[in-house]
Amino acid sequence: MEPTMIIRGGVAVTDGTVWNTDITISEGIISSLSAPNHSAAPRAQTVDARDLLLLPGVIDPHVHFQLPFCGAVTADDFSSGSRAAAMGGVTTFIDFATPSPDEPMEASIDARLQQIEGMSHVDFALHGGITRWRPDTRRSISQAISRGIPTFKTFMTYRKERRMVSDATLFRCLEETGEHGGAILVHAENDSLISLLIRRAHKAGHLAPIYHGRSRPPVTEAEPIGRAIRLAAAAEGRLYIVHMSTVDGAETVRQGQVDGVQVAAETCPQYLLLNEQRFNQPDGHLFATCPPLRAEHHADGLWEALIDGTVSCIGTDHCNFTAQQKAVWDGDFTRIPYGMPGVETLLPLIYSYGVRENRISLPELVEILSGNPAKLFGLFPQKGTLRPGSDADIVFFDPDASWTVNKQELATPGDWYPYAGFLVQGRIRHVLQRGRWLVRDGQFVGGLIRGQFLPRQLESGVGWE
Ligand code: URP
Ligand code: ZN
Ligand code: ZN
Repeated sequence: MEPTMIIRGGVAVTDGTVWNTDITISEGIISSLSAPNHSAAPRAQTVDARDLLLLPGVIDPHVHFQLPFCGAVTADDFSSGSRAAAMGGVTTFIDFATPSPDEPMEASIDARLQQIEGMSHVDFALHGGITRWRPDTRRSISQAISRGIPTFKTFMTYRKERRMVSDATLFRCLEETGEHGGAILVHAENDSLISLLIRRAHKAGHLAPIYHGRSRPPVTEAEPIGRAIRLAAAAEGRLYIVHMSTVDGAETVRQGQVDGVQVAAETCPQYLLLNEQRFNQPDGHLFATCPPLRAEHHADGLWEALIDGTVSCIGTDHCNFTAQQKAVWDGDFTRIPYGMPGVETLLPLIYSYGVRENRISLPELVEILSGNPAKLFGLFPQKGTLRPGSDADIVFFDPDASWTVNKQELATPGDWYPYAGFLVQGRIRHVLQRGRWLVRDGQFVGGLIRGQFLPRQLESGVGWE
């Protein structure tokens, strides 16, 4: 088939390799990667990628656009959120359909798909959710898996928000998804210990933002991670730890993997790049998220866990509450809506503070942000790689551009940004989604592009070995 686009002279980074290559695209699919040549293709658009890196589109496996949570709804809808994603080189996101305990899972998936329908500028998938074991849960799990939603988030905390599941329910979820080729995502925090520590903080009049962190110390994450891993081993299920924030958690996951449990983990930019000192700033309440920001040494341990493969992915947990929305805290840390944005800066920040600061290599960056989430979540090789036959989701990245994160210049809606003022090395120049321009010269041009729902199927062995 005649190519519709030829990208010449760039340096492609994919599947562990870095090489000078021309990439041809036909009908939205990569048709070839070859040593640079000057062969003519009269009907193809030629794009000059000299001095640029060509990366597979980033997959953010953990975002919440338009999320009703903590008494508010987050600031971006699927249009503005996915536009910010596109500007950040994120060409695929995975959001969540979390049912209330009284709601059938199918209804929550239908409602979420309806909200996204025709709104997203980039491709997307959904994780389902389980907040109670109901008489229809077994059937719902197998139905969701057969419609391309094989991963389900569960919560070991948020009892007050009616999301927490018991250990018995978590076990049954692991058993059931294990049997049907699915996996369980778990938000691992020990609810009763946190409740005790919050009550104590209140009694002592400790209401400042730092007590959000102090009432959720590392043990409140590491203990439930260990418990969930043991349950996964007993149930012979697959487990993915979301938004892991501590070195203690990483050590627990590492041990689980050594013991042969099918457990994978994700961390987030906020745990790699921010720390609990933020809570002591005058606007410290803005930085409340769950799990909380940690003491500085945890970040070093999490970078190490990324390097040795204990942690496979970085999801942003993008949950964009504005400063105006967070103002309801009114001096009491327990009233802060939890969450912060991040999808737009995932790639440049991790490139800058990971690759340029010699913590991870360039091929590792691509595996962490694209290859691994594609493999773990059943999107590979359609996504997560630059190969003939893969979707032409390509980020043209200028490794030498320096810039400073400035809220005014971001597409992310809202009135604050957690990484404002960060110096960044490396910037997104252009982005293609299935061969069409989403971003050109740093400007969003994808207004007419509609993202597609990506039905997924987990493959045993791929990413889960
Ligand atoms: O504080 C957070 N992380 N908000 C988003 C919801 C969640 O638990 O992932
Ligand atoms: Zn969570
Ligand atoms: Zn989340």
